[in-house]
Amino acid sequence: MLLDEKYNEIRDMVKKFADSEVAPLAMSIDHEGKIPTALIGKLAENGFLGSYIPEEFGGAGLDYQSYALIVEEISRSCASTGVFVSAHTSLGVWPILNFGTQAQKEKYLPKMASGELIGCFCLSEPNAGSDAGSLTTFAEDKGDHWEINGVKNWITNGKEAGLCIVFAKTKKTPDYKGISAFIVETKTPGFSIIKEEDKLGIRGSSTCQLAFDKVKVPKDALLGDLEKGFRVAMATLDGGRIGIASQALGIAQAAFDYAIRYTKERVQFGAPLSNLQGIQFMLADMSNKIAASRLLIYHASHLKDAKLPYSKESAQAKLTASEAAMWITTKAIQLCGGNGYTKEYPVERYFRDAKITEIYEGTSEVQRIVIAAAELKAVD
Ligand code: CAA
Repeated sequence: MLLDEKYNEIRDMVKKFADSEVAPLAMSIDHEGKIPTALIGKLAENGFLGSYIPEEFGGAGLDYQSYALIVEEISRSCASTGVFVSAHTSLGVWPILNFGTQAQKEKYLPKMASGELIGCFCLSEPNAGSDAGSLTTFAEDKGDHWEINGVKNWITNGKEAGLCIVFAKTKKTPDYKGISAFIVETKTPGFSIIKEEDKLGIRGSSTCQLAFDKVKVPKDALLGDLEKGFRVAMATLDGGRIGIASQALGIAQAAFDYAIRYTKERVQFGAPLSNLQGIQFMLADMSNKIAASRLLIYHASHLKDAKLPYSKESAQAKLTASEAAMWITTKAIQLCGGNGYTKEYPVERYFRDAKITEIYEGTSEVQRIVIAAAELKAVD
């Protein structure tokens, strides 16, 4: 897809950064299960943590298409670092930018752009995953403040976060109707990390279970309208899904690039593997899936930037890109054979990292629900 020249410049700039600062660390980030603090500092210095925060709040003032390119290129080098940027930006920054008051924006966005405050998104709970509306965390109105009690699960950036977007019921309902959104600083007494998950992939990205035990937040911590929190969550996830699709695309591109180089170099039966038509067919299918993912991601980003509806398109982008990433990384291991299965080669990491893109920010099944609902609504 032809992108305006300014996007090519942004891609080149991020690619240069990712190749020199992120890629050399990717294997150790995976082994050690941690993104170095110095790298987080460099992400902030280069404007990647505040990419679409307006300049008046200390950000780079870019659009969503640029943000998608940033996540794609960083994820091409390291998917853990890619999702760190993505969760902070689309799940932490965006709801404040879109639903926050002027005071909330002034208070938090400059610190989020500079990396002083890392954001996370607390929707899921032990018994509320895909059925997000059934969450039970409760925020009680105590007159001059709210008191939040509950447990949140699978929270990306839970360990690094200084700020959480927390979804809690303010009215006891069995469904989504009583949910409100809050901005909670993790330094608030009563907040704690119960555990950090030991995961298959994206091992450098923290995924935590968090406790909110009598967490007292001021009245003005409410984000958006009272009992309209589910809309805040769903609208935020619409954008977040473009971020995860971009992460999946970055992983798929890395696996594909590696497979191309490997099959051109690896000689079997007296010739490079890439001379074999069977191998070429696999590479062609990988190429097509990458192109389809990229087009859907750019299309959804374009709609979002144009302020047009894009829920269905972001679900299509995430579904397509995540399933493509899983397929492509599986084939990349196949193409690299025994070498691909070892930790000496990066393709097994791409394969492990790809799987989560079919799960978080809405499973592939949830994306199909969103897409089908939109299509059924569109026809009388
Ligand atoms: N934007 C704004 N509002 C929306 C919306 C959207 N995209 N989609 C739905 N809504 C609103 C509806 O208008 C409706 O509101 P009203 O009654 O006021 O009109 C309300 O939300 C309920 O809509 P539905 O009846 O469609 O909701 P549902 O309960 O049937 O749920 C669902 C639908 C698609 C399955 C939804 O629950 C869902 O997306 N679940 C998956 C949740 C998810 O993605 N979780 C991941 C959490 S983040 C994460 O992974 C952790 C991390 O840190 C990365």
